Amino acid sequence: MTKILGIETTCDETGAAVVNSDRTVHSNVLASQVSLHEKYGGIVPELASREHFENLPFIVDEALKQANTKPHELDAIAIAKEPGLPPALSVGYSYASGLALSLNLPLIEVNHLEAHISAIWISPTHINLKEIPHPLLCLLVSGGHTELRLLSNSNNIKVIGRTRDDAAGEAFDKVARILGLSGYPGGPIIQKMASGGDEAAFNFPRPMIDSSDFDFSFSGLKTAVLREVEKYKGRDDVSAEVSNELKDFWVKDMAASFQEAVVEVLVDKTIKAADELGIEHIALAGGVSANQRLREVLGRACQENEFTLYYPDLEYCNDNAAMIAARGCELIGKE
Ligand code: KG4
Ligand code: ZN
Repeated sequence: MTKILGIETTCDETGAAVVNSDRTVHSNVLASQVSLHEKYGGIVPELASREHFENLPFIVDEALKQANTKPHELDAIAIAKEPGLPPALSVGYSYASGLALSLNLPLIEVNHLEAHISAIWISPTHINLKEIPHPLLCLLVSGGHTELRLLSNSNNIKVIGRTRDDAAGEAFDKVARILGLSGYPGGPIIQKMASGGDEAAFNFPRPMIDSSDFDFSFSGLKTAVLREVEKYKGRDDVSAEVSNELKDFWVKDMAASFQEAVVEVLVDKTIKAADELGIEHIALAGGVSANQRLREVLGRACQENEFTLYYPDLEYCNDNAAMIAARGCELIGKE
């Protein structure tokens, strides 16, 4: 049995976790920088790296303490490497390599996107599964990436489709800003507004839904939302007394209609790819995999097509160090 300390600094979360190769998560500590970046409406890389630098020693200490683990009881350190914000990545890498050197431990470099898929492996929902079956088709949806990946096994990963412009999470974040919804990230805020709205209120485009490849595009959808906002601003009744109530309904309908368009494209293309490639096991991973509507629609489509669907429990959807350590556990056996 191996015990790994995972360190995550790819974006705006400083994370450290201790995970065993039997999939026990002993600790998973996260210092979120959301409040720091919120006022800028997005991540400021220089601020993020400074925060990582300051937080890391405390977060790592806390993760070891919560795991009741002494540094010499560790077998390795796993560090999240690309993709991510370069200044943030380099702070994490310097810290992790220094720590590994001082403790005389191997340093395992973990790909951030591969780790999102490993988040499924440590999720209590799937803990009774010996391992996630292969071949597996993974819809990987995060703030920086939207990809369809074909995994013949956990080390043979082929990207068969990707976004040509904005990532799905990025589209959620940008549309939240366009709709004047304060806070960051935008995905959970859109999801909350959408739950009170009508997804058929606006007929937004479903970009590339019928294309013959497995690629995506979300930038045109964002522009369609922007156009509706401009139309709305030109309406006579918007500045009248009813405007606040009208605005509330309107924003909820916009959020629901936008979310529905994104979900429909993601689900349609995933099912089409699984069908064409003859894959029966589907995984959903990355920050956007927390989206309830996406889980619901993809879940239904998988059921209808007799595919099995796996996704991480909510606590492991967004960037976290437990998934980095979990991927480290998978890799260490193969080094
Ligand atoms: O994987 P992640 O934590 O970080 C990256 O690697 O980018 O993903 C963050 C993205 C953000 O764009 C955020 O808005 C989105 O995931 N997200 C969601 C939800 N929760 C997080 N998008 C839609 N619905 C959600 N519930
Ligand atoms: Zn991520």
